[in-house]
Amino acid sequence: MTATIVNGREIAKELRKKISEEIVQLKTKYNSNPVITTIIVGNDSSSKLYLRLRDNACNEVGITSKHVEFDATVSQEKILQTIQQLNTDDSVHGILVQYPVPKHLSQEKFIRAIDQRKDVEGFNPVNLGRTLIGDEYLVPCTPLSVLTILEHEHVALKGKDIVIINHSNVVGKPLAALLLNRNATVAVCHVFTKNLKQYTSKADILITGAGVPKLITTDHVKDNAIVLDVGIIETKDGVCGDVDFESVKEKAAVLTPVPGGVGPVTIACALKNMVKTYRNCVENA
Ligand SMILES: NC(=O)c1ccc[n+]([C@@H]2O[C@H](COP(=O)([O-])OP(=O)(O)OC[C@H]3O[C@@H](n4cnc5c(N)ncnc54)[C@H](OP(=O)(O)O)[C@@H]3O)[C@@H](O)[C@H]2O)c1
Repeated sequence: MTATIVNGREIAKELRKKISEEIVQLKTKYNSNPVITTIIVGNDSSSKLYLRLRDNACNEVGITSKHVEFDATVSQEKILQTIQQLNTDDSVHGILVQYPVPKHLSQEKFIRAIDQRKDVEGFNPVNLGRTLIGDEYLVPCTPLSVLTILEHEHVALKGKDIVIINHSNVVGKPLAALLLNRNATVAVCHVFTKNLKQYTSKADILITGAGVPKLITTDHVKDNAIVLDVGIIETKDGVCGDVDFESVKEKAAVLTPVPGGVGPVTIACALKNMVKTYRNCVENA
């Protein structure tokens, strides 16, 4: 059987349509324009590409996306000061820091500094904590994207054996929480997992975000599994994910491609979060 290939671009387009309709209504109701600001440090090429795609998406739905740019040598204090200014600026409804940041800067300090009401990425400990206890509000965009795709493909989660490869604070851990909140049985794997295949080959749903090309081959996949590939790796032959797409598509029931799978939906999920932070600001002004 050949897998159903998820069309992430189409799902994202549907989401953007809904979001732009909601924004038209909110702009009329509150007589203001949603504005988000991204702090950018240095000149990372994949960040630039992602930013361009996100700015285009913002533009399409009627969100103003502003940038505050710093040289790679900027101090920690300067960024924290900028975050504080944006936190108290009523004309800014959402704040993001574009990661990765140079090594001398603490991502964790920035995450903690962003006002939880303006936390578009849902990385702030309060928002992550809310996700963990099932009070999901501002949920990190990549886990939200995975969930959105599973819902779109009508994949039931209750009682399913799900394996996630990634245990970062922004992908694997919040995703595990979202799936546990929906009564799946979840295993989270990472580089220290002793026998990856032993886990993945039993999974009804496999979600991989390792950033390692061809990490997942047919041996890792159960017959008719749902396989979602979060990995995005730039190689000399173009962009690919973690999954050996051509072989795994003959074994899985549903598979996301890279590019055109999880990525576009993640950007649309960021827009969803921007609408939430906008509401937070204008409704509690
Ligand atoms: N599609 C999207 O929307 C989206 C969004 C964000 C990121 N990404 C992509 O997802 C990938 C991961 O991004 P990230 O920021 O989460 O990176 P990260 O923080 O480095 O996370 C990678 C995770 O995979 C694990 N891992 C790496 N190699 C492994 C292996 N051989 N076997 C088992 N586990 C392994 C790592 O384990 P350790 O922590 O133990 O090292 C870690 O938990 C990248 O390709 C990135 O471009 C995609």
